[in-house]
This record gives sequence, C-alpha cells and structure tokens, in this order.
Amino acid sequence: MSATQAVALNPLAEIANEAIRKDCPVVFDLLSERGKRFFFPTKGILAQGAEAKQKAKIANATIGIATENGAPMYLECVHKYFSGLSSSELYDYAPSYGMPGLRQAWAKKQRDETPSMGQQRVSNPVVTNALTHGLSIVGELFLDPGDEALSSDLLWENYNLSWETRLGAHISYYPFFNQGLTGFNLEAFSQALMQRIGKKLVVSLNFPNNPSGYTPTRAEAAGIVRALTVAAEAGSKLVVVCDDAYYGMFYDEACEQESFFGRLAQAHPNLLAIKVDGATKEEFVWGMRVGFVTFGVKNGTAGVYQALEDKTAGLIRAVVSSVTHPGQTIVLKALQDPAFRKQQAEKVEILRQRAELTGVECRRSEYADCWEVYPYNSGYFMCLRLKEAAADSVRMKLLEEHGVGTIALGQANLRVAFSCLTEAQIPGVFAAIAAAVRSVRGN
Ligand SMILES: Cc1ncc(COP(=O)(O)O)c(C=O)c1O
Repeated sequence: MSATQAVALNPLAEIANEAIRKDCPVVFDLLSERGKRFFFPTKGILAQGAEAKQKAKIANATIGIATENGAPMYLECVHKYFSGLSSSELYDYAPSYGMPGLRQAWAKKQRDETPSMGQQRVSNPVVTNALTHGLSIVGELFLDPGDEALSSDLLWENYNLSWETRLGAHISYYPFFNQGLTGFNLEAFSQALMQRIGKKLVVSLNFPNNPSGYTPTRAEAAGIVRALTVAAEAGSKLVVVCDDAYYGMFYDEACEQESFFGRLAQAHPNLLAIKVDGATKEEFVWGMRVGFVTFGVKNGTAGVYQALEDKTAGLIRAVVSSVTHPGQTIVLKALQDPAFRKQQAEKVEILRQRAELTGVECRRSEYADCWEVYPYNSGYFMCLRLKEAAADSVRMKLLEEHGVGTIALGQANLRVAFSCLTEAQIPGVFAAIAAAVRSVRGN
C-alpha cells in the first residue's frame, strides 16, 4: 500500500468530490490524487477566525495577530512607507481564497473583457501568489506523476520546472509556428490532439505567448477552440489552461483580443477550462504577486465551482496560508480607480510603439543573413531564429562585447524583451545582435 493510499480521505474532501462527481463526472476524473484529497478546512482556525470577525462583538481572541485600538498593531518604521492605507488593509491576514472585494472586482473585469463568456456560469476567481503559483496549483490539482501535458514548443521555461521537475508530469510539444513562419500551426496542434483522442490531457494555451510575443488571429483562435471541442466530443478528457499573463497587450487589429477562456468554459462537459491570469503584467506590478485561478466547464454548477474553489484555497492554506494582503489591497484600489483604464492604456501604447519600431529594425534587409523573425503582435517579447549561429554563443558575445542582454532558448532562438528597451536603444540592439551572429560564425 502506498503512503498516499494510507491517508484516509477527509470527510470534507469526500463532500467536495461528491459535489463534483454528481454534476461533472469528467472533472472528477481529471483531478489528480492530490486534487481528490484536497479540501478547505471549513472548521479550521482561519474559518473560525472569519466567523468571529463577524460575530465576536465583545472580544476576539481567535487569530494569531496582535491588535491595538481595534486594529492590527504595527511598527511606525514599517507604516511610514504606506500612505492612505489603514493597518487593517495591510497587515491583517487575507483569507486563503483572497479578499472578497478583489475577487468580485476581478470577476467583473474578466466578464467585461470577455463578451464570449455570455451568461456561462464560471467559478469565482481564487487569488494566488501571481500566475506562477496559479499554474503550480493547476498542476497540483490535475497532474499526477506520469500524466501528460501538451504545450507549444515555444513556452515559458517555468512550466517544465513546475509540472515536470516538481510534479513528475511529462510535457509533450507541438510546433507553435507553421513551416513558413506565417502563423500558428493549427495543423500540428489539431494533430497532437487527434493522436491523444480518448485520453486525459492538460493543454496549456499561452497567448500572448512567451517567448514569441504571438497571439493567434481570430481565424486561428476559432480553429483552436474547434480543435479542442472536437477532441472533447470524441472522448478526450481535457483540462485547458488559458495562461493570460500578458492579456491586453495587443498591437495588431488582426489578433484575437478575447481570452480563449470565454468560449472554452462552455465548449463541452469533457473540457474543463481554467483561466490563470493576474495583475503581474497587466497592471505592471510584477513583484506585488497577485494572480487568479478561475474554473469554467459547460455543465458547471455552483456546487462544482465551490468544491474546486475549496480545493484551491485548501492548497493555498497548506502551502502559503494566504497571499499578500498589501498587494491585494493595492490591486483592488487600482481596479476601482477611475483613472485605471486610461493609465493602463497609456503604458500599453508605449509598448506598442516599441513593438512597431522593433518590427522595422529587426526586419532590415542587411540582417537577412542573420535570422528569421518569428511572427509577433502582442505581449512583451519577440523572438529571432538565428541562422547558423548557436543562440547561447550569440548571447554570450552580446553580453561580453556589446553589453546587451538577451535570452537564448534552445539551439537557435534568441528572445528580445522590447518591453524593456527604450526606442532609442532598439536599433543598436539589433545591430549588435547581427554583429554577434556574424562574429560567432567567424565572418
Ligand atoms: C507565460 C507566463 N506565464 C506565467 C508567468 C508568471 O507570472 P507571475 O510573475 O505572475 O508569476 C510568466 C512570467 O514571466 C509568463 O511569461
């Protein structure tokens, strides 16, 4: 008997599992062993403390914080760095699910930005320590050792660390771009799904993509949704993760500007869609660590979503207990600020201009011998496929001889974060990359 089998299922886990199994049996089948075991301790310290917060009018001796004058105690040498925020908004613990007001505001933002969601019922977003944590929770809930996940060959490297190294799952790849490098390789994606018909599969969709900066066109997006729906209709059991880290940074009218989550959340009972998103890149608060995990499935009910939220919050409670309260408070206040959308659009416009200039510079005819440019239309990055020069050698030469930092990915790909370059720097960066490529080649 394995150690896992030896642990009896907590009655609360059984209740959550039964709620999922009753309305969405496929979602239950998709859960990992850990996912099946998890629950939120509704009678635990946090829950008792939350109850006391509502009802203990005379004295509250529940939670392990210290209070003074009815609010969390604090040191002036800490508090002097904050202005306009009370100690309750900063220092008290946030709930494991996240601040209720923030969850509500984020849910509204998601719906406003995703008209294709229509009236489809989805879960409330659960707050995570930004998207890395969200992806790790998705893995914990749905990937057992040996399970397969499908990703494009151009992906954020942390998927490997999180899902493979940490959880023992296995990631398979399809080529992200077609042979001519003109767009998304829908054929390869569909084929990869067809080869796995009838199986359980976790599929990651990351648009705008890191590292390429590509978001599919509307036609490609429709094809992706169709391919996934066809696979689900044919019996595959799918978890489709919409990694929307760079949501909203679109620089081309042709690209799909809605999260795939809207359509996938109502595609088929065999397809559980999970939106992993957050304030990190969208609101330019990378180190503040506020993200969200949201579930949607065609026949999802309130009971199923509550059980999935409970399992997610249980994992949060077990690992980090709760997510940064100052970060959540500030992100909520920003979302409620009338100037939020305007300020965000101004920053995205700066990125768009950098992307446009990058497009001119990287495609100069004098660099034609040095690289091909992967298509890009969104996000923070663009990627070059170098010709006859090892990417890491070029990266090293760029650093040592030109003082220019880039990221080498695999044998031939070099990622350039135009989001971090001023317009004045962009021409010089590509001239330096070309010089480095030629030098590595010895010409
Ligand atoms: C595609 C993708 N997903 C997720 C993340 C994680 O973001 P966070 O900083 O919110 O954890 C990143 C960060 O670089 C990313 O590029």
